[in-house]
Parts: sequence; C-alpha cells; structure tokens
Amino acid sequence: MNNCQRDLILIVDDIPNNLKVLFDILNKSGFKVSIAKSGEGALEKAQEILPNLILLDVMMPGIDGFETCRRLKTNQKTKDIPVIFMTALSETVEKVKGLHVGAVDYITKPIEHEEVLARINVHLDLRKMQLKLVQKEKMSSLGQLVAGIAHEINNPVNFIYGNLIYAQNYIENLLKLLNLYEVYTPVSIQEIQEFSNVIELDFIKKDLPKLLASMMVGSDRIQEIVRSLRIFSRLDEAEIKKVDLHVGIDSTLMILHSRLRATQERRAIEVIKEYGDLVPIECYAGQLNQVFMNILSNAIDAIDEKINNQQVVNFEKSEVDKLIILPSLSTQLSTSDSIFLKRKIEFTPQIQIRTELTEDKKLILIKITDNGIGISQEIQQRIFEQFFTTKDVGKGTGLGLAIAHQIIVEKHRGTLEVKSVLGHGSQFTIAIPIY
Ligand SMILES: Nc1ncnc2c1ncn2[C@@H]1O[C@H](COP(=O)(O)OP(=O)(O)OP(=O)(O)O)[C@@H](O)[C@H]1O
Ligand SMILES: [Mg+2]
Repeated sequence: MNNCQRDLILIVDDIPNNLKVLFDILNKSGFKVSIAKSGEGALEKAQEILPNLILLDVMMPGIDGFETCRRLKTNQKTKDIPVIFMTALSETVEKVKGLHVGAVDYITKPIEHEEVLARINVHLDLRKMQLKLVQKEKMSSLGQLVAGIAHEINNPVNFIYGNLIYAQNYIENLLKLLNLYEVYTPVSIQEIQEFSNVIELDFIKKDLPKLLASMMVGSDRIQEIVRSLRIFSRLDEAEIKKVDLHVGIDSTLMILHSRLRATQERRAIEVIKEYGDLVPIECYAGQLNQVFMNILSNAIDAIDEKINNQQVVNFEKSEVDKLIILPSLSTQLSTSDSIFLKRKIEFTPQIQIRTELTEDKKLILIKITDNGIGISQEIQQRIFEQFFTTKDVGKGTGLGLAIAHQIIVEKHRGTLEVKSVLGHGSQFTIAIPIY
C-alpha cells in the first residue's frame, strides 16, 4: 500500500540493548522510530507523537506491558494504535492475556528480524485498510445526509414557491377590485367604515405587496440553499464530470454559512473571493467539494482557536493605569498588584479564496488562506497523516486533510501543499491538472 509518509513506530523496552537492536532493524527498513524505556514513558510518548504502531515489551519495572496496553486502549487519543507485544513468555496464557487487553499480535523473544518486520507490515496494512473504510463511510454518510435533507426540503419549498406566484397574482387582483369598489360605490355604511379603520386598510394595501415580495425573496433563498446542498452532495457521483469549480466552492461556502457568521467572540469571517478565469475541468466534483469543505472548516477552526487563545498577559499596576477601559479597577489595586487580563486581539478574521489557471494552462490552482492560529513547522510535517489532530477529543478526528490529500493526489493526480506561519495564518494550495 503506498503511503506518502513514512510510518512511525514506537518501541517500548526497559533494556537498552533490546531497544538498540530493534531500532536498527526498523530504521534500516525505512521506518521512523521513537523509543520509550518504561510503561509510563510509553503512555506519555504515544499520546504526544501518535505513532502508527507500538512494539511493547511485557515485563518492565513500574507498570508492565499489559497494564500499559490497557491504559493506551482507554485513552481516546491512543486507543486505535495497534499494539504488538514482545514477550519471552511462551505460555499460551500470557499470549492470550495480551490479546485480551487489546493487542493485535505478539512476537516472542529473541526477536527474529524477518518475523518482526513481516508482522509489523501486516498490521500497518490492516490498519490502513481499516482507515480507508472509515474515510469512505465518513464521506458517503455526509453526502447522503446532505442529499437527504436537500430532497426533503425541496418538495415543501417548491410548494410554497409555486403557490406564492399565484397568491401574488390573486392579491393584486383583489386589491384592484377593492379600489374599483371604492371609486364606484363610495362607502357610506358606518360598520364598513369603522372596520376599515380598525384593520388600517390603507396600510394593508401598501404593505401586502411588500410582504409577499419578501416571502418570495425568502423562498428564493431556500431554493438556492437546496441547490447548493445538491451540488455539494454529488458525492456518490462516481464518474468523472466536467464542472465549474467555482460552483462547487460557492456551494460549500453556502453550507458553511452559519459557521462564518459573527459569534459572541468574534466578528463575521470575511470571505474574499478572487476567482480567476477557469475552464471547466474533468473531476470527481463531489469529492472536490469535500476537499473544499475540509480545508475551509479547518480555516474557520483556526480562526476560532486564535481568538480563544487570546494571550493572557500579566499587567503591572502601572500598566493597568494606562488601560482606559479599566479606570475603576485601577483604583482598587495597590501599586504592587498585578493582574492577569485577556488581551483582545484586534483583527478581522478573513479567509481568502483565490483561483487561477497557470500560465502554461496545464494546472488549476486554488489557494485558500486564513489568518487564524497558524501551524508550527513541526506540526506541518504531520497534518496530512490519518488521525493526526490537535483538536479536542470529539471535535476533530484527524481525517479531514488525510482525505483531502488522498482525493487530490490519488484521485486527481494533483498536489496539496501547505504554507504557514504560527500565529499568523495558513495557506493551502490545491493544484489540479486540467487533463
Ligand atoms: N488552516 C489551519 N490552521 C491551523 N491548523 C490547521 C489548519 N488546517 C489544519 N490544521 C491542523 O492540522 C490538523 C489536522 O487537520 P485535519 O483536518 O486532518 O483534522 P482535524 O481538523 O483535526 O479533524 P477532522 O477530521 O474533523 O477534520 C488539525 O488538527 C490542526 O492542528
Ligand atoms: Mg479538519
């Protein structure tokens, strides 16, 4: 199975010589290797580096391999990492115990080079296949959900829209008729006169057409949203089609609309579109929409994180005096006091989407830039890895960019690159060949 990154393996053993032997074998075979010398060390390391696989010694001082494995499996972040036990214990009971606490396999010591490599590769491949299935499921279930909602909304909306046109027509006619009555049979009956006053007839005559027009605008808008949802959910269209990418980007923005709006913490995110002259290209349209979706939602997350991370700054009393917003607080402080305040970052959250055709007319470039939290050099190396996430459990699965990478690189023979400066923002560049 091809992989754009080298797999990272964590070896855990308390005996330095064992570590060295394994390190050399794995390193020579092209793996990235990290080590831990105890169960406790392994738990910490695993959480930090999120290896693709762990080779775990059973007998160690402190917590043993079984306990380490049990704890790895209870941690959301590490629970899916395959663990292979290394044991000198050839008792069946011990092997079974290892499998019970969540290991996928075991190897017996002394370690055989060929065997250890073969087993590692089997489990890495299995894991990758499993991940591919998860991705497929994730993509198709989002697509199905969106398509389902679009379908359900579409019927009632057509109802409203279709009838509104008639309603507008009827009401216009009724108002005309009313006017004719008023001209040719001027009212002298008191009851009619009074009721007209009560319901403010003159106002109704002016307001009713406006009201209908705004209902028309509203239902137009719902139809537009439904259209976007449908375009977005072209996920299941397996075949390649010629499409205008701008339509896909716009439909994705429409779906993300509620996340772009102002919140209690920040202003609305400004979306700056700089669309170039693109030709329609042959592509898997639904899948590309998924890519836009993943990159744009990361951009929004990055902006929100920048705001949440507003620096907590330690102000001295003398500085508090200068903060005109807090004059009353300042009088309550003695000169030696200092105070922690959240420093508000004054900035306009922005996402820029730029598209262009390269000069040789061979590639379409789509650059999506945000002014969010940015990505450190170290993390940039890992963002395209499956399951790599810096977000809280439940918030991120770490699949977004892995999926995007796969769709762009494998399905469209393109490239997906990142440039970022920590604290300032990030730019993702998608390049797709036209042919
Ligand atoms: N625009 C961005 N700015 C800052 N960090 C980013 C940006 N895009 C991605 N990242 C980093 O890359 C990591 C991986 O992104 P990815 O989309 O693959 O997973 P995720 O967003 O954490 O989870 P999900 O599966 O829900 O998308 C993120 O956790 C984040 O640390
Ligand atoms: Mg994401």
